[in-house]
Amino acid sequence: MRTDRRGFLKGAVCAGGAAALLGQTGCTSFSGLMAQRRKSMIGFRAEPLEKVRVGIIGVGHRGPGAVNRLSRIPGVEIRAIGDLFEDRVARQIKALTDKGLPAPKGYFGSRDTWRALCESGEIDLVYICTPWLWHTPMAVYAMQCGKHAAVEVPAAMTLEQCWQLVNTAEQTRRHCMMLENCCYGYNEMLALNLCRKGVLGDLVHGEAAYIHDLRMSKLREDNENGYQGQWRLEWSKQHTGNPYPTHGLGPVCQYMDINRGDCFEFLTSVSSNQLGISRAAAEKYGKNSPQAKARYRLGDMNSSLIRTYRGRTILVQHDTTSPRPYSRINLISGTRGVLADYPLRVALAPDTHAWMKESELEALKAKYVHPLWDKNGEAAKKAGGHGGMDFLMDLRLCHCLQHGLPLDIDVYDSALWSSVVELSERSAERDGKPVKVPDFTRGAWKIAEPLGIVTV
Ligand SMILES: NC(=O)c1ccc[n+]([C@@H]2O[C@H](COP(=O)([O-])OP(=O)(O)OC[C@H]3O[C@@H](n4cnc5c(N)ncnc54)[C@H](O)[C@@H]3O)[C@@H](O)[C@H]2O)c1
Repeated sequence: MRTDRRGFLKGAVCAGGAAALLGQTGCTSFSGLMAQRRKSMIGFRAEPLEKVRVGIIGVGHRGPGAVNRLSRIPGVEIRAIGDLFEDRVARQIKALTDKGLPAPKGYFGSRDTWRALCESGEIDLVYICTPWLWHTPMAVYAMQCGKHAAVEVPAAMTLEQCWQLVNTAEQTRRHCMMLENCCYGYNEMLALNLCRKGVLGDLVHGEAAYIHDLRMSKLREDNENGYQGQWRLEWSKQHTGNPYPTHGLGPVCQYMDINRGDCFEFLTSVSSNQLGISRAAAEKYGKNSPQAKARYRLGDMNSSLIRTYRGRTILVQHDTTSPRPYSRINLISGTRGVLADYPLRVALAPDTHAWMKESELEALKAKYVHPLWDKNGEAAKKAGGHGGMDFLMDLRLCHCLQHGLPLDIDVYDSALWSSVVELSERSAERDGKPVKVPDFTRGAWKIAEPLGIVTV
């Protein structure tokens, strides 16, 4: 990555100085000091952190896994845990003290106590695992408080929120990384390696998806087993398009150097009718129940097609209400071959009329396994989290913070991949009319260098 050393040093000194002021003056001083600065975050390096002190907000279904994973990474200290519910926070504090680790401070009891967590002088990184609508407000405030922000997917639900993330990161010189764990999956990193090494030739087309039958999870009413306040079902009532595009899309963007040599130009999107959730509600509650009669705007299947400036295409699908096996599709196709997932298959020139035999695929995997998996795969599987990819994501994030390196997923990736939420809805509402995609890098994608193949 190109970096401006003088800019980094100035930024690091200024950020450190401002952060030191926080104990006395609160977060507005930090954002005030940084307000005039607006410089690209491409290749941004923050001051290295000897210890990464983390505050985690949201310990429902997703957050506790993060508590467990981060507690296993050397040089990382969990200093704070926040949630609406005291018992959830207490459970996670106990999980840490049971391992002999110090008890983090708990923040709970109201919708706004997370603000105090962000304001704490004890934290470098705010790690956000709350429902979708909280992601951007929490990440923005964390950055305004001088903290780096790591935020669950999607990082933003509207274009306005995407810009808020970008503008705040640029002004505060703080990282904002969307926690797109699927970029760290074994197959995805294998595909990334194949793309980097040119094995698939020049890339032409990718396919991505989130196909996951969540009908029963969406309908559960109790917070213990369901989503808190049924946040996912509520979104389905109010919106169409693709609310959750990044699991499949993020990895394809990395294969194609999106924001680092290419960028989305326009998108067109169509949604199918909606039957799945209404029928599931009718079965669960009866056909005359309010749940079955409610209006759900989210179509069962949404298909969006993105065209890039370099003429490549990406299909992104979303379906969480059909009886289908899980898939992110994960297909990448180039002038010399194709990789497709679910299950993993590869075909390479000149023999592209059939998929490779199992033995050839195994040999290819052994040759092109991503170095991060080769080195840390066993530890990752042990720590768990979707087969280990969640752990590798956290490991890599903390490594970059500890060494002052640019992050693999920066604020521009977080904004661009998330922008498909609103763009797909806008297009689907207008019978698939193409919509222009904003350039969050403000043109810097043309000079940014591709992600390297990292080894640690
Ligand atoms: N990357 C992945 O593989 C993956 C997997 C599952 C979920 N997720 C994402 O993680 C996020 C959380 O999902 P979940 O399934 O854990 O949801 P959940 O409803 O089970 O948990 C959300 C938690 O946030 C808490 N919360 C809500 N508002 C809060 C506030 N104002 N202050 C403090 N805490 C608050 C809730 O009390 C709850 O405990 C979502 O964005 C989801 O998309 C990502």
